[in-house]
Amino acid sequence: MRSAQGTSATKKKMNGYVGFSNFPNQEHRRSIKRGFNFTLMVVGESGLGKSTLINTLFESKVYPTKDAEEAPAQRTGVEITSVSADIQENGVRLRLSVVDTPGFGDSINNEESWRPILENIESRFDAYLAQENRVNRSKIVDNRVNAVLYFIRPSGHGLRAIDIEFMKHLHTRVNLIPVIARSDTLAGREVETFKARIMADINYHGIQIFKPVSDQFDDPETVADNKAIAGKVPFAVVGSEKLVERDDGTKVRGRRYPWGVIEVENEAHNDFVSLRQMLLRTHMEELRDATDVGLYEAYRTQKLLALGHVQDNAVFREFNPRQMLEEEERLHGAKMTKLEAEMAAVFRQKVQEKEGKLKQSEEELHSRHQQMKAVLEKQRAELEDKRARVGAGQAMNPPIDAVVAHPGEPIQRMPSKD
Ligand code: GTP
Repeated sequence: MRSAQGTSATKKKMNGYVGFSNFPNQEHRRSIKRGFNFTLMVVGESGLGKSTLINTLFESKVYPTKDAEEAPAQRTGVEITSVSADIQENGVRLRLSVVDTPGFGDSINNEESWRPILENIESRFDAYLAQENRVNRSKIVDNRVNAVLYFIRPSGHGLRAIDIEFMKHLHTRVNLIPVIARSDTLAGREVETFKARIMADINYHGIQIFKPVSDQFDDPETVADNKAIAGKVPFAVVGSEKLVERDDGTKVRGRRYPWGVIEVENEAHNDFVSLRQMLLRTHMEELRDATDVGLYEAYRTQKLLALGHVQDNAVFREFNPRQMLEEEERLHGAKMTKLEAEMAAVFRQKVQEKEGKLKQSEEELHSRHQQMKAVLEKQRAELEDKRARVGAGQAMNPPIDAVVAHPGEPIQRMPSKD
């Protein structure tokens, strides 16, 4: 057998069935057994219908909703909350996590509202990266956000500063899907001009949003479907958890007005169906893929380069374990050398201080010794002086039998007067 290097694949016709064409079925069964994860984040100010839309999309009470009269909770900033639900459809399990961002845009100063949300999205990337770098990677929990539904207030005037700031800071980290909230409050023509203004703002600020692409498909039906969905962005949506009665007596999910019913699932009334189609039926896997291969990969590269790692293989995104170990050892060695140098410097300083103190006390002792010596010398001189004076007094009146000593002569006994 020739080595794999340098060989080119040749097309071979098979004479019988061997079975690998069953691979897609194996993959299908494996996916069904495992189930899927999907994390969806909703961002928008309070009361725009975020919870209602989520519950309408998944046809279940995934998220608690409030009444229109209910006052929004008092918050000092943006919070991040998350709920998860296991949903089953035709035997396929979907573990859905909905991340809500209450408090976004509700403060007086909303300049930094985007920041905690960006930090949350990046911390999920960090958690994934830490798991990827573990020795055992068999049980990686994927909590990365696959898409953000960004709710635009139905003002009709275009994007506001808070919308632009949010999208500009987040578009390289997450798949952005802008939606016009509560679009039933706008007239039909108003919706179209509002959409055009929003898209003009998005293009002007160079914001990337998630849109289905058509050029990579051969199938004309898929191309047409994707083009139709892409043409609806930003999706003007209506949500409702209630069934209302139409004039013909049939019940539909929608909202009742004095002049008639707005149906959630009627494409002539709003874009809910297109949004659901893209999010859940045709592009869920693409959103997961774009998160993994595009957004996360870019974040990971940026992060590792900032940490001083060299991207060794962008395709397999694997670390060379030996290189990693060597790098760790090198860093550890450098750290130890630095520590040792610091310790030696501290030691030298301490020795110098001690030596200085010793020298000082030696000098003090010496000067004290000198003083004492001087005092003693003085006392000795005084004593000498005294003795000399006493000696001189005795020489003038020498007593009988006194012993007189003349220097250089032997001691003589003086004769007594008797
Ligand atoms: P917070 O939980 O405060 O962030 O609000 P939210 O954005 O989750 O809004 P929620 O879904 O709780 O809806 C707020 C109110 O708006 C409720 O009374 C909903 O019935 C109503 N609502 C939701 N969707 C729509 C819609 O598409 N059109 C209209 N007209 N009202 C809606």
